[in-house]
Amino acid sequence: MTDLLSKFDALIAQREELLSTGMTDPFNLVMERVESPTVAICNGKRTILLGTYNYMGMTFDPDVIAAGKQALDEYGSGTTGSRVLNGTYAGHKACEEALKTFYAMDHAMVFATGYQANLGIISTLAGKDDYIILDIDSHASIYDGCALGNANIVPFRHNDVEALEKRLKRVPEGAGKLVVLEGVYSMLGDVAPLKEMVAVAKAAGAMVLVDEAHSMGFIGENGRGVAEAQGVIDDVDFIIGTFSKSVGTVGGFCVSNHPKFEILRLVCRPYVFTASLPPSVVATAATSILKLMQGADKRAHLWDNSRKLHAGLKALGFQLGTETPQSAIIAVIMPNLEQGAAMWEALLHEGLYVNLARPPATPANMTLLRCSLCAEHSADQVDQILKMFEAAGRATHIIS
Ligand SMILES: Cc1ncc(COP(=O)(O)O)c(C=O)c1O
Repeated sequence: MTDLLSKFDALIAQREELLSTGMTDPFNLVMERVESPTVAICNGKRTILLGTYNYMGMTFDPDVIAAGKQALDEYGSGTTGSRVLNGTYAGHKACEEALKTFYAMDHAMVFATGYQANLGIISTLAGKDDYIILDIDSHASIYDGCALGNANIVPFRHNDVEALEKRLKRVPEGAGKLVVLEGVYSMLGDVAPLKEMVAVAKAAGAMVLVDEAHSMGFIGENGRGVAEAQGVIDDVDFIIGTFSKSVGTVGGFCVSNHPKFEILRLVCRPYVFTASLPPSVVATAATSILKLMQGADKRAHLWDNSRKLHAGLKALGFQLGTETPQSAIIAVIMPNLEQGAAMWEALLHEGLYVNLARPPATPANMTLLRCSLCAEHSADQVDQILKMFEAAGRATHIIS
């Protein structure tokens, strides 16, 4: 018998070597209790959370929680069926209405996760003879959507407008073209030049899909994302998003003004061949989305937090993923995996949780400590976070 798991031997060895030093497994942390969007108990210790995607802090919003409880009481714990059979409840329609209102768009389709939204929409739009031109640093769910549809994939250099233009010119005349971009790239927290890219894509006759997973709720005047902030939202054909970040629950979606959009409900396999979200989840999502429309003050505070943390980390001598703060994600670049893991653990001992990210998830083989801020972090918590970075950075000799 060939052991099909032996292809992971190198990874197993690397992991065993790291853990043999006695360090805490960075990929197996348990949140023993969660007190608020910014504080949890980990290993018995009160810990500030700086590695969630709870950008707008909606997980403990009283209205959101009340809506979930009411739906649980009135509709039960799950739908036990697909959206196209017995799995569409009033709450699913209300959630899609909330999305249409939030984005001011004609159509909205809710999926079980953001991963499935990318998988479903991309694979259904672009098939065997079509071309998907995508940023090389695209999220795994985008790549998996391309693979499921069996489309021709043409990657271009990260955030490089000229490279996108060149690749588009090479696509055979008359072929279907879908340009796939993200608003915020989650590893480094950098923003895409959507204004230029959407213009280039449209000039080449391509349709455009933008994944706004990390910008919804926060970026843009109404929190609709980077396409809104850069004034091109009306030229984007499909926006993909998730409920697992600013919305504060789980689920995914696509919104669009395309007049034929509704047919996708019958032909999109990751929408049809899976059960719909539980009523409590769509109720929390709908309530959260509508509340995010009134989130201007929270957005302003989150920007303050992002600017403060970025400036503070830079002043301490850390190398950051972006020159200026561009989103709620601030990536701290580590010299290597070993020092990155040591720094991650030192921060945890200080009482701070951040995300350790390593290749292949990261660009250019980087090891990153990814900090993601929340609108519920107080200015005082950001000061504490900076002190913890200073202490851990010195203890691990990453800063002097
Ligand atoms: C850019 C991007 N798209 C999609 C997803 C998937 O979202 P979900 O957690 O809802 O599956 C993520 C999540 O990490 C993401 O970063």
